[in-house]
Amino acid sequence: MATDLDPRIWPRHATRGPDGELRLAGVDVRDIAAEFGTPCYVVDEADFRSRCRQWRAAFDGATVYYAAKAFLTVEVARWVAAEGLALDVCTGEELAVALRAGFDPRHIEFHGNNKSEAELDAALRAGVGRIIVDGFSELRMLARLAAQRGVRPRILLRVTVGVEAHTHEFIATAHEDQKFGFSLAGGDAHAAVKEALGCPDVQLVGLHSHIGSQIFDTGGFEVAAHRLVGLLRDVRDAHRIELPELNLGGGVGVAYVAEDDPADVTDFAAQLRGIVTAECATAGLGVPTLAVEPGRAIAGPPTVTLYRVGAIKPVVLDGGAVRTYVSVDGGMSDNIRTALYGAAYTCTLANRLARDGGLRARVVGRHCESGDIVVRDTQLPSDIADGDLLAVAVTGAYCRAMASNYNYLGRPPVVAVRDGKARLLVRRETVDDLLRFDLGASDSAE
Ligand code: LLP
Repeated sequence: MATDLDPRIWPRHATRGPDGELRLAGVDVRDIAAEFGTPCYVVDEADFRSRCRQWRAAFDGATVYYAAKAFLTVEVARWVAAEGLALDVCTGEELAVALRAGFDPRHIEFHGNNKSEAELDAALRAGVGRIIVDGFSELRMLARLAAQRGVRPRILLRVTVGVEAHTHEFIATAHEDQKFGFSLAGGDAHAAVKEALGCPDVQLVGLHSHIGSQIFDTGGFEVAAHRLVGLLRDVRDAHRIELPELNLGGGVGVAYVAEDDPADVTDFAAQLRGIVTAECATAGLGVPTLAVEPGRAIAGPPTVTLYRVGAIKPVVLDGGAVRTYVSVDGGMSDNIRTALYGAAYTCTLANRLARDGGLRARVVGRHCESGDIVVRDTQLPSDIADGDLLAVAVTGAYCRAMASNYNYLGRPPVVAVRDGKARLLVRRETVDDLLRFDLGASDSAE
């Protein structure tokens, strides 16, 4: 049947069935809720994988590292590998998940602003392909560990280029005041290049920058590329070496609501290449191998969170208007983004046809906190009722990954749908799971 589902927001294989129910990759969400319970993350596997392929094709000849921090499970790491992408991890724990999935360590890069000795050593032991060095102390620690192991890791230096970008705007002169990277303006980036080149135990292969997240305006990348190529030129002039790799990080935005207008991946890739090629031509440099690190743009849109509606409460606002608070059985523990960033989301009635969209509503969770909001402003059918299912779109990135056990809620399961079938990837956490870590609980069981 005709659908109200904006294809830029909902998973590629989302449709409405005969009762108006939401179907994801041919699976009726009522069946998913019955089998796996709610709340539940449902990921459209083919959609996730096709986004991997789209990035790979758009950046043919470059390296696309999927940013694991957005969302990672063992199975997801396998999808990423099968689609030919590399992987960006930023903790020893993410690395362990990737290795458990059998991810080829040569295609893993290791990030982090405060890597421990144990993490760096684990990265060397695994033989990760690249380590993105974030500070002088790390550079020295890494060199020492590499010498002990008799290896010579390939490294990039993370450069703070003085650009901060989010959604619609970017600031190109500020933002040195943060924890990541070597400052370009302050001279640390130049000094770090010199030190790394002088260090026999590491192999400096390039520069890295990451300017922000959920970016629509590609101007920020343009300024970052301009400044990084400037540094490549300075390095050539000072040290007679052309560093062969340039990693421009992640940050490409996605549409959460209808007003969002993110860049198309193919256009973005062409633009980025164009900028780097032109800047290198001006500087008289060969074009380095590019790398990018998309997280949200791959993981976000293929996933939907399913909730069961519970308490419904109309509240009279100043001026007499009514806002109806629609409570669901999850909340800020499975999606902290609304509370933390004021993020906007799209939701829909998922178990039946909506007769109208007449109710001015706010979707809230079940946590003991008034900031526990899932969708701040939305219109829902006026007959929405306890027991209905609600689906929230674009919850694949930074939702499960940032989930908590606040109020002792177990984190929801992850279900993959594909070709009419649903498959559990990660099961729901139970209160028994949580009590297993509480040593008092095992005392009293004896
Ligand atoms: N590379 C680096 C070095 C990063 O720090 C990040 C994200 C990425 C790549 C991936 O960025 P993406 O393509 O996903 O925008 N929790 C926030 C987002 C934090 C992003 C942190 N770094 C949120 O929920 O919006």
